[in-house]
Amino acid sequence: MLSGKRILLIIGGGIAAYKCLDLIRRLRERGAAVTPVMTRAAAEFVTPLSVSALAGEKVYTDLFDLTDEAEMGHIQLSRVADLVLVAPATADLMAKMAQGMAGDLATTLLLATDTPVMIAPAMNVRMWEHPATQRNLSVLKGDRVSVVGPNEGDMACGEYGPGRMAEPLEIVDAVVGALADGPLRGKRIVVTSGPTHEPIDPVRYIANRSSGAQGTAIAAALRALGAEVVFVTGPADVPPPDGVEVVRVETAREMRAGVLAALPADAAVFAAAVADWRVVGASESKIKKVEGALPTLAFEENPDILAEVSQMSEGRPGLVVGFAAETNDVIENATNKRARKGCDWIVANDVSPATGIMGGTENAVTLISDAGAEAWPRMGKDAVARQLAARIADALV
Ligand code: C5P
Repeated sequence: MLSGKRILLIIGGGIAAYKCLDLIRRLRERGAAVTPVMTRAAAEFVTPLSVSALAGEKVYTDLFDLTDEAEMGHIQLSRVADLVLVAPATADLMAKMAQGMAGDLATTLLLATDTPVMIAPAMNVRMWEHPATQRNLSVLKGDRVSVVGPNEGDMACGEYGPGRMAEPLEIVDAVVGALADGPLRGKRIVVTSGPTHEPIDPVRYIANRSSGAQGTAIAAALRALGAEVVFVTGPADVPPPDGVEVVRVETAREMRAGVLAALPADAAVFAAAVADWRVVGASESKIKKVEGALPTLAFEENPDILAEVSQMSEGRPGLVVGFAAETNDVIENATNKRARKGCDWIVANDVSPATGIMGGTENAVTLISDAGAEAWPRMGKDAVARQLAARIADALV
């Protein structure tokens, strides 16, 4: 799966460094060669000897090792790899990367490399949630660094929350994904999927019947063609595909924030069934049932994420694809929608109950673009996704 691939593994100084020993084994099991680099702090958590024994290679630790400079300069070390993987990426390493600092071997390699970089952050939950770390994270994403994890759970420091490094097998999946060959390799694509839930109070919400199946299939198909996919999903019935960066949201406003944070991207596919309205002033506590009196709900409009991204004057993805789920005059409504929103393509489908499409496994779509309306035969949602992904690949390369 990874044979012939070389991973430059930069091990940062955090307790999660111990997981790197297993990570190295897993990467090698799949055929990858691993060149380990350790920061000085990393050597406080795991020994260079264990790392080198598992990697079967020398560990690089010091920027000013003249022998290595003669054998293989640090610039070259950073470029012979197919991927530079930073695990664990500590708050400190992320900050240095975001600033472009190069005070030691690890950060110098990261600044000098021209190969894709992936980070697996690991830190205390407060450090992860700190605005400085979140700022650094968005800078790094903007620099096309891909991110795996962190996961939520118990932490070595006794706290609970997001900050645990992704498990070795999750990191391996992300690496396999990042190195997948295909026409979309090196392309970053944002996909929205699923319904949104708009709260009425803490226990009730407004939703729709979207299962997330079509969006999930599209994300998987793009991933299979080698794209780096950021999958921004509402509460869906189906699990997210492997090998994509998952951003879980509930409301339309959270989905908008997730999408904007995932940009820049080469393309964006808006397959989510976003609620058009939300309840004004959702109650903080459960609304009590009062005999004989009905509550009144007032609505306000949700942000139209597709229209906003389509009309961005700066940083608009090169290809923006929207969906139009209609129950009548499908082509006419979808064509008008394309013009109104300003997206490049609209994938239109008839979701009237008789079609069984909403929540079902099949879809019959019409692709509307500059070239007009092209009706595709009814087929499985997976097949629609593969066909759409292939068309996206044609358009981007
Ligand atoms: O306006 P309508 O909901 O029919 O548009 C459907 C398309 O717009 C879909 O691609 C959907 O993902 C996107 N959309 C959005 N934000 C909204 C509403 C719809 O991104 N608030």
